[in-house]
Amino acid sequence: MGKTQREEWDLAEITTDVLIIGTGPAGAATAALLATYGVENMVVNRYRWLANTPRAHITNQRTMEVLRDLGHEVEAEAYMHATEQDLMGENVFCESLAGEEIGRMKSWGKHPLSRAEHMLASPSHMNDLPQTFMEPILFSAACKRGTQARMSTEYLSHEQDADGVTTTLLDRLSGREFQVRSRYLVGADGGNSLVAEHIDAPIEGKMGVGGSMNILFRADLSKYVAHRPSVLYWVMQPGADVGGIGMGLVRMIRPWNEWLIVWGYDINEPAPVVDEAMATNVARQLVGDPELEIELLSANTWTVNDAYATNMQNGRVFIMGDAAHRHPPSNGLGSNTSIQDAFNLAWKLAAVVKGQAGEALLDTYTTERAPVAKQIVTRANQSIGEFGPIFEALGMTGGTDIEKIKASMDARCDAGEAGEAQREALRQAIAFKKYEFDAHGVEMNQRYRSSAVVADGQPEPSFTRDAELHYQPTTWPGARLPHVWVFDHSTGQQVSTLDLCGNGRFTLLTGIGGEAWCDAATQVGASLGLDITCHVIGPRQKYIDHVGDWARASEIGDTGCLLVRPDHHVGWRSAAIIAEPAKELSRVLQLMLSKK
Ligand code: FDA
Repeated sequence: MGKTQREEWDLAEITTDVLIIGTGPAGAATAALLATYGVENMVVNRYRWLANTPRAHITNQRTMEVLRDLGHEVEAEAYMHATEQDLMGENVFCESLAGEEIGRMKSWGKHPLSRAEHMLASPSHMNDLPQTFMEPILFSAACKRGTQARMSTEYLSHEQDADGVTTTLLDRLSGREFQVRSRYLVGADGGNSLVAEHIDAPIEGKMGVGGSMNILFRADLSKYVAHRPSVLYWVMQPGADVGGIGMGLVRMIRPWNEWLIVWGYDINEPAPVVDEAMATNVARQLVGDPELEIELLSANTWTVNDAYATNMQNGRVFIMGDAAHRHPPSNGLGSNTSIQDAFNLAWKLAAVVKGQAGEALLDTYTTERAPVAKQIVTRANQSIGEFGPIFEALGMTGGTDIEKIKASMDARCDAGEAGEAQREALRQAIAFKKYEFDAHGVEMNQRYRSSAVVADGQPEPSFTRDAELHYQPTTWPGARLPHVWVFDHSTGQQVSTLDLCGNGRFTLLTGIGGEAWCDAATQVGASLGLDITCHVIGPRQKYIDHVGDWARASEIGDTGCLLVRPDHHVGWRSAAIIAEPAKELSRVLQLMLSKK
């Protein structure tokens, strides 16, 4: 008698708890986090190695907090390879690198006021870390900690049943197909995700709304840039507003001798073939040096997308990263959001695999992250349009007549009302680009609403400043735990409140008089099989709030408590001690973990 399908699956050659497709930022981060949490996992990539071009680079504070949570050595390795924040932010707008500078804005936390907000918000720093460095850091952390990785292995299809997922993979070296049986499958397979297609993930929006090309090359451009250090040099030439990401771009990869040019093409025309001659020509044109010699490293075309998934899960299968949100690089959100998706899903998968949570906890991944997908796709595409006023202020929107454009641009140097108005319009248009280049709130303000957050009856605090530009800390359940420095009693060293939490565990933070919460944590933790850490912050305690920042940020009384999830988001809080803390903590955790 032939085997039933079920028996075939049971014969899958490899079994694991979580199979991850893709070793990009999303997949590698998921693998690293799961391995750190002690969950068996396997990751595959259809290519023989990791990213071969430095696509993502702007690495925001929230992402660095995820790396910090993976361990100080992981965070330190990222800083070691990154270009530091101080060299990132003189965002230049120019006719060409050698030509006239038209304007500048301080970006990525370079302005002292913005830098102060960055410093207050997080123990981690924004930096510029090309994807060719980020992926090996995450991938190696994963493999060192137990992830089984298979390269040259392509995802073909999957089938799920009540107990698990059977995935068919192709070993590209031998041409042999084989099956992996896992409890869960994560599709972190990028913008053309086959996994998303196979689960019929509902995608809103449009793909291919603009055409763009990347030209990666080496050339020492120090003489044009070292005095105005930046990661982005925006070049305004006729044709710069066609396709692409809003304007011609010369992007620093390594200061100041490795570069990526991003230049648009008309999406209604066939994609151009970017050969060495064309690449050199575009580089010479944007740098403004007709003699420039470049060492071309690679060139390719890609499309600007404007699409996001409204559901990131189908049963036991999840999608994350570009598979779920497809958008231009504006605001530098893609890899960042991918890694943050992983931080959201990994602890939930771990809790379910370890039997600490009900499967319904996994539904909160979509509830919490799909709104973020929509938010970032919308923001990134809006940012492209927001270059428009700069072109308008320079009179560059009325056609391609070079002489006319030149005359309009020259007019901004004229004395008189018209010239003054043009100068003011240009200043305002450039300053408005802070919504792309200094949007700290877009990066840090995510607040979750789902059954993995238990409300405390308090209304959500409204934003007192522009929520896209400014991060606003709060301990309102669903928000990320505010960072402040407290001090270790025995060493005197400052420690971030975020460092007291995370590491795959739930944490309770309380103050003097709230010790009963710690007893409750021990008791409830034992009964639910959870490792709950508890910290009392106050004078003569292990952590001391010498400067009073925690008292200001915690929004609870000394006897109250914050219950912080493994991903640093506040899951619940109590303003003060209550009559039966263990009973209440047990109720709250069972709700959050979908145990009831
Ligand atoms: P990603 O595409 O990186 O990885 C997909 C993985 O799946 C790869 O390992 C691939 O080989 C694998 N795969 C695909 N199909 C498979 C199959 N069938 N079988 C097996 N494996 C398969 N982001 C950011 O945060 N900051 C920034 O500054 C920028 N800048 C930037 C500039 C430019 C020019 C571009 C084009 C993009 C950016 N980005 C960015 C975006 C960023 O690059 C992007 O969002 C991330 O790479 C997405 O990471 P993922 O892991 O989701 O997919």
